[in-house]
Amino acid sequence: MSTFQAPKGTYDLTPPDSAKFLAVREAIAAPLRDSGYGYIETPGFEDVELFARGVGESTDIVTKEMYTLTTKGGSQLALRPEGTASVLRAALEANLHKAGNLPVKLWYSGSYYRYERPQKGRYRHFSQVGAEAIGTEDPVLDAELIILADQAYRSLGLRQFRILLNSLGDKECRPVYREALQTFLRDLDLDEETRRRIEINPLRVLDDKRADVQKQLTDAPKLRDYLCDACRAYHEEVRALLTTAGVVFEDDEKLVRGLDYYTRTTFEFVHDGLGSQSAVGGGGRYDGLSEMIGGPALPSVGWALGVDRTVLALEAEGVELDLPVATSVYAVPLGDEARRVLFGVVTELRRAGIAADFAFGGRGLKGAMKSANRSGARYTLVAGERDLAEGVVQLKDMESGEQGPVPLADVAAELTKRLG
Ligand code: HAM
Repeated sequence: MSTFQAPKGTYDLTPPDSAKFLAVREAIAAPLRDSGYGYIETPGFEDVELFARGVGESTDIVTKEMYTLTTKGGSQLALRPEGTASVLRAALEANLHKAGNLPVKLWYSGSYYRYERPQKGRYRHFSQVGAEAIGTEDPVLDAELIILADQAYRSLGLRQFRILLNSLGDKECRPVYREALQTFLRDLDLDEETRRRIEINPLRVLDDKRADVQKQLTDAPKLRDYLCDACRAYHEEVRALLTTAGVVFEDDEKLVRGLDYYTRTTFEFVHDGLGSQSAVGGGGRYDGLSEMIGGPALPSVGWALGVDRTVLALEAEGVELDLPVATSVYAVPLGDEARRVLFGVVTELRRAGIAADFAFGGRGLKGAMKSANRSGARYTLVAGERDLAEGVVQLKDMESGEQGPVPLADVAAELTKRLG
């Protein structure tokens, strides 16, 4: 019989590397928790319409990349390709916005699915940690989120990332720009698919990576010149707040993002060690999304950072995370009676909050000590018949190599003392 493999575009997280992913998730979540963001968890799938309306009918995500399914009951569902629409849907459903405490600040962590062409850094199943601040229009909130992402990356030791910043305008000024851009683009020498894109989502044409397209875009009208006074003032305020906080960013006029719900502030974190899939995170303001999915007007802002790509960025920079050792004490019994007694000691240690593991399977001393070494434990406990007869176990400090007997009844107290 043939064996199974992880589906194309996916991979498994296995120890010891999986510890890095946990550490990255934790590093991104910590500054959010410390800043008033509450944890939210939503289902892995939603009504397909939520994403069609929220993310946008013209986006690659909705037209090409969604995993959709029809249930036995006839419901059309999609595995979530992103978190924002779901989180807003859940906040509205729970009436969080009516509790009189805006913005509603939420953070989340989970799996997302996009049927993309897999390559390094681009997967069909990937992991994000995200944050959404719902219901308030305030440039300080946009700045807060960018600063917290910057803080998260820095706390991990990342340095070679850049922050790209742009404003996409609002429902007043963007349509005017859109039309000016369309008029300009229609006169260019472009292929059929790009021509179609001009009519559906012209801003995405600016994002075209092909050199011959880019060459024709040098004189394209610039969104900056079309921003209304309110959008311009808002954007200047966000920029000033970031500068005051000492967060370095680059103005990037071409930053349009792949989701349609954005208004005003948009940003992306790019890492220079990652090749083509360089965006380690991104986000922005989405003042109209709530109304697009049937809610009241709730101007909001948020971001999602890609855990997979953040791990790749750490590797690209050669950053070794300072991961805490999982096991502090490793117990090695010699003989059946010692197994029973030492297992009891291990259970007692664990109940006292000391991370302890055990040489299972009745291996010999040599093999068991190898496992003890590999576990990274600072101390090992070894006991044989003679030790038990004397009511002691041998406690070995794996760093200094020192070893000595400790009365069985005192082991937990002794280790608690030594491990501080
Ligand atoms: P996004 O830019 O589509 O934004 O995704 C955010 C991050 O998720 C990306 O920067 C990237 O690191 C990671 N990511 C996306 N697709 C893949 C993939 N196929 N493989 C690996 N990593 C991937 C959003 O999802 C928005 N919901 C962000 C947001 C929150 N905007 C406002 N609030």
